[in-house]
Amino acid sequence: MQQKIVILDFGSQTTQLIGRRVREMDTFCEILPYNKFPLDDNNIIGVILSGSPYSVYDEEAFRVDFSQFIGKYPVLGICYGAQLMAYTYGGKVEPAGSREYGRAHLKYYEADNPLFKGFVKDSQVWMSHGDTITQLPEGFHTIASTEQVKNAAYTNPNKRIWAVQYHPEVHHSLQGFQLLKNFVVDICGSKQQWSAASFVETTVMELKEQLGNDRVILGLSGGVDSSVCATLLNRAIGKNLTCIFVDHGMLRKNEFAKVMEAYKGLGLNVVAVDASAKFFADLKGATDPETKRKIIGRDFIEVFDAEARKIKDAKWLAQGTIYPDRIESLNITGKVIKSHHNVGGLPEEMHLQLCEPLKWLFKDEVRRVGRQLGMPERLVKRHPFPGPGLAVRILGEVTPDKVRVLQDADDIYIEALHNYVCDDGETLYDKVWQAGTVLLSPVKSVGVMGDERTYENPVALRAVTSMDAMTADWAHLPYDFLAKVSNDIINKVKGVNRVCYDISSKPPSTIEWE
Ligand code: XMP
Repeated sequence: MQQKIVILDFGSQTTQLIGRRVREMDTFCEILPYNKFPLDDNNIIGVILSGSPYSVYDEEAFRVDFSQFIGKYPVLGICYGAQLMAYTYGGKVEPAGSREYGRAHLKYYEADNPLFKGFVKDSQVWMSHGDTITQLPEGFHTIASTEQVKNAAYTNPNKRIWAVQYHPEVHHSLQGFQLLKNFVVDICGSKQQWSAASFVETTVMELKEQLGNDRVILGLSGGVDSSVCATLLNRAIGKNLTCIFVDHGMLRKNEFAKVMEAYKGLGLNVVAVDASAKFFADLKGATDPETKRKIIGRDFIEVFDAEARKIKDAKWLAQGTIYPDRIESLNITGKVIKSHHNVGGLPEEMHLQLCEPLKWLFKDEVRRVGRQLGMPERLVKRHPFPGPGLAVRILGEVTPDKVRVLQDADDIYIEALHNYVCDDGETLYDKVWQAGTVLLSPVKSVGVMGDERTYENPVALRAVTSMDAMTADWAHLPYDFLAKVSNDIINKVKGVNRVCYDISSKPPSTIEWE
């Protein structure tokens, strides 16, 4: 049995962070929309209710049937979660005199309450709410206050409810992790056994059961997620998995061959399709970023579909979708944060069922699973790379010649990142979330090489640090490193006479240029 904490998402910006914290204590958790409590799941050991942008008395505020889980499992309410329970059981929630935001200090009254195990006096907490609980329902009592907030934490021991009106999941709440751990480990009884090894073991077992003797197809991209997904499925169903790897001609230099080599080493059954001629032909003349993306998306599905149809009895389509990819579809407030890149989809008439074994994992966890499966380090550590490949890193029309120029410049940059070892022993490649080179092909500038005048394109180097690609900062790469890469590119790559470094963060920019 895989113990599990269910986090019900009421739309807070920090729900994901609650999930991260629970995983950091080696406990599996699922973040589900507030109204999708899984009634038939026997593995649940506790429930956490997230915050929300709403007030409990807003007409459109999210409400939930508490009888589904209160009394059955220990429950921790956070912020809105705390207010909603208090309100629903007959307490009073009112607008706070002034918005309660920022640092505060917690005074707790029950030193033996398991929620406060290991707490120090006046522990700093982080508040962010417009409402406050002014009266608790019968059977509930206050267990902590701050200067401004009387009911900063409360409990109802009979119903096994605990609640806090601050955000323990953010780092500014200094003992927030301790509080969450007290709930998950001491109150809910987590054995803290979630690990890459246990994930592999449980998932392989589940996949065997789910897929039986069915045939499964999977699109490989060379990236970490699809590769880990394939390796996991390979372990579960072996020869019944067929992977399709489409080369659209816009991968990194020699990448197709290198990655195929790695896949062979892993024993994967891969159908490799070189469709680059088709992609280049269809991209001819296209300059608008969205048009280019659409052409590539359409061609990809056509090529993939033609191959997939050859596997006559396939019943499943496996995808390496991971948790951050799904945030938009899970974002219940309806605000689009990032469009979902990986759900392409084969024509409906193929009637393939979707299998997404990594859908609950964060990127670093996918990497841990990859290592557990014995995948080569270079494949496991690979930076994210966009589906449309270098096409979105060549501004304007894409041609095979421009791809070659960009591949050469990019190869110098990426290899240099691998080769630069920092003082702490980590390479620059490992320090950044993602790096790549952009060919600014509509721009030409003058240079001088030897005695010759040049009139060529610049490239922009991009490197960002990030947790999940939703936000990103430009990486502060050392000047000596940038100087050497610039020199090497200009001297070795014909067609490039200038190198710039992109110092934009996301937002307001994006990671890719197109
Ligand atoms: P942006 O440019 O939106 O990119 O900041 C966020 C992350 O998504 C990657 N990306 C893609 N991945 N198909 C993908 O599989 C795509 O069409 C695509 N476009 C962007 C990008 O590299 C970054 O990691």
